[in-house]
Amino acid sequence: MRDTIRIDAIRMHAHGGPEVLCRESIELPIPAEGEVRVRHTAVAVNFSDVNVRRGGFYRSEPERFPLIPGNEAAGIVEALGPRVTGLRPGDRVAYVGVGGPFFENTGAYAEARNVPAARLVTLPDTIGDEQAAGFLLKGLTASMIVNRVWRPKHDDTVLIHAAASGVGLVLTQWATHLGARVIGTVGSQDKANIASRHGCTHAILYRETDFVAATRAFAPKGVDAVFDGVGRDTLERSLDCARPFGAIVNYGNASGHPPPIDLMRLSRKGSLSISRPGFHHHIDDPAALHSACAELFELLKTGILEVEIGRRHALQDAASAHRDVESRSVSGSVVLLP
Ligand SMILES: NC(=O)c1ccc[n+]([C@@H]2O[C@H](COP(=O)([O-])OP(=O)(O)OC[C@H]3O[C@@H](n4cnc5c(N)ncnc54)[C@H](OP(=O)(O)O)[C@@H]3O)[C@@H](O)[C@H]2O)c1
Repeated sequence: MRDTIRIDAIRMHAHGGPEVLCRESIELPIPAEGEVRVRHTAVAVNFSDVNVRRGGFYRSEPERFPLIPGNEAAGIVEALGPRVTGLRPGDRVAYVGVGGPFFENTGAYAEARNVPAARLVTLPDTIGDEQAAGFLLKGLTASMIVNRVWRPKHDDTVLIHAAASGVGLVLTQWATHLGARVIGTVGSQDKANIASRHGCTHAILYRETDFVAATRAFAPKGVDAVFDGVGRDTLERSLDCARPFGAIVNYGNASGHPPPIDLMRLSRKGSLSISRPGFHHHIDDPAALHSACAELFELLKTGILEVEIGRRHALQDAASAHRDVESRSVSGSVVLLP
């Protein structure tokens, strides 16, 4: 029996711009004990893929090259390693990371991948492959924030930065469903229209308008919470948008790492709280993963959450997908199609 198969993958041999992402033919070993070979049908492009490609990300150890980026995909079970139960060839599955930090142990930009069976989620018929790949990390991040960090209540006002981004759009829909009023910052009028379609009541074009003044115009006493995935360009001034006792949740750094925050500023601004949650800490073990996914699938099925696929690229055009993400030209999710 052959102990490898040949597949195409996107590999990088050094950090750099999108041009370091090269299509190569590689050998994939047969699945080891506890692993499943998944034939990918849709692969997510996440912002952390860009950070991994650029280098300098907060990893526990430096990347080893050659490296296949990406850590989220949907596909079909193709082969089972020893001691795998509960899955059969032909099952539709998806995964978000393979354990540990999402941005480490990557390998999804490929036609197929061996994945620990415990990290696979079986997809219901109501969810398409592109939807699953384009949604799971964003949905799980929103789930972490809404269920574990700061849950919007009826009549709360929440400021969501980059409200038309992958995670921002899920947060916008979920906060709206819970009865909160969403003020969203967005980079363009197109993005404002998309965020509004998903529940954002006040869109602020923050590249041309001072978002603190605009937020205060909509919420003179300040907002109850700020959800901030933009980081460097927004986090410090987000403190000026919150009401006393308000919460700042910084979950991402799309514009770069934010500067250190002086704790005394939180006191001076009215006993604010600030948190910096990571999905891989909150939703790490398979039980937490499966229960969070079950809730997300139900929210999708009932139409409370919708997946916005902003752009699709062929797997071999991963570099173009990265250019899209970095140029802020896309709303919602970007997927690669092998
Ligand atoms: N904590 C966690 O566990 C966790 C989980 C998932 C994602 N994240 C992080 O959360 C952040 C957002 O993720 P996402 O999936 O929503 O990303 P995304 O869909 O790529 O959106 C990022 C958005 O940030 C805005 N932005 C502002 N400055 C930017 C810049 N210099 N370059 C690129 N974009 C910029 C853009 O929106 P506008 O044009 O509207 O400004 C852009 O669309 C990322 O940093 C990601 O790594 C963290």
